[in-house]
Amino acid sequence: MRDFFPGLAGVPAAKSSVSFVDGAEGILEYRGIRIEDLAEHSSFLETAFLLLFNHLPTKLELEHFNRDISQRRRIKYRIIDLLKSLPEQGHPMDALQAAVAALGMFYPTHEVLDEATRYLTAVRLIAKLPTIVAAFARLRRGDEAIQPRDDLSYSENFLYMLTEQIPDPSLVKIFDVCLILHAEHTMNASTFSGMVTASTLADPYTVISSAIGTLKGPLHGGANEAVIHMLEEINSLGQIPAYLDHKLANKEKVMGFGHRIYKVKDPRALVMQGFAQQLDAHRDTQSLFTLARAVEAHMESRVGTKGIRPNVDFYSGIIYHRMGIETDLFTPIFAMARVTGWLAHCFEQYQENHLFRPDQIYEGPHHRPYEPLETREPHSQ
Ligand SMILES: CC(C)(COP(=O)(O)OP(=O)(O)OC[C@H]1O[C@@H](n2cnc3c(N)ncnc32)[C@H](O)[C@@H]1OP(=O)(O)O)[C@@H](O)C(=O)NCCC(=O)NCCS
Repeated sequence: MRDFFPGLAGVPAAKSSVSFVDGAEGILEYRGIRIEDLAEHSSFLETAFLLLFNHLPTKLELEHFNRDISQRRRIKYRIIDLLKSLPEQGHPMDALQAAVAALGMFYPTHEVLDEATRYLTAVRLIAKLPTIVAAFARLRRGDEAIQPRDDLSYSENFLYMLTEQIPDPSLVKIFDVCLILHAEHTMNASTFSGMVTASTLADPYTVISSAIGTLKGPLHGGANEAVIHMLEEINSLGQIPAYLDHKLANKEKVMGFGHRIYKVKDPRALVMQGFAQQLDAHRDTQSLFTLARAVEAHMESRVGTKGIRPNVDFYSGIIYHRMGIETDLFTPIFAMARVTGWLAHCFEQYQENHLFRPDQIYEGPHHRPYEPLETREPHSQ
């Protein structure tokens, strides 16, 4: 019997210098820099540059990068038409995946190893994802999509395209830091999915659309939405013990808790908890944040010793909810940030490519006779 690792847990699938995580100590670094330092001092686009090019940009490099991105925020009217034609009750992650796959048809990319092409593709994807997310959010309500504004910063422009209002600078800052914290996280399911696609030398638009599909699931990025639904279902502090104990007794997962790597509280959750608390000031005693703190305390007493603690998705949803963002946009916002990490891994994969083609352990039958249709019995399970 060969070794088998369900979910490839603990199996290194690549060598990478993009990010590092220490799950026992709760450390996450992008290109060697602690995320707490980036959260305090950097901007999302500066962090994107760091992830893509392995160094912090000079002032001039950052100016060019910002300019290149702000000039490419517009999307073709045909992409808008595509978004208009999708069912308004469909999930925005599906709309995003479809639109990103379609982008690849407008910007065919054959030379995936060419540096100039790679730069332009990365710039386009980072620039256009927010426009697609905001456009679908408005079009599904019957509103016109709002044109991006080149004079606004990345995060400011996204919030503006959602609401047609210039957002409060303190909210822009919090939102931008949330994007920094979601930008990259070593070898996770969506990154791996993108890398498998990149290993076939498919273009980056196809790579990113694969990764978006994988991010959607509730065990991955979709957990941030599920946390809000759970807190709304719990509804009051008094319900918490019964709700959680019932879930744990039935071996159901509590969303926003647990991580394959972290056995301490996710360092990103710690930063986001601070923001969620800041936004919660002067709210009522049953606010989502108050409920979340109490859920965390109960989980700690029940399963803390197993290392099941809040992950990145536990407090991020509460922040976005408080900012008035619709719940089903949380995961697309995660994708807007993570596209930078996906691209960094995709480019590493192109550079040292080896087609992903793992093995399997076959457990089915052999030498089965082919039965003619006329004599086949109904199949019993
Ligand atoms: C993220 C996740 C898939 C990682 O899990 P994993 O490494 O595959 O670990 P497992 O699912 O095998 O769980 C190991 C044990 O912890 C328990 N556990 C893990 N996460 C749990 C959670 N969120 N709630 C309750 N129990 C949990 C499992 O029931 C299992 O218990 P057992 O040993 O008694 O059988 C898992 O923690 C999870 O589903 N979390 C909820 C979804 C979520 O928040 N995802 C976002 C991740 S950033």
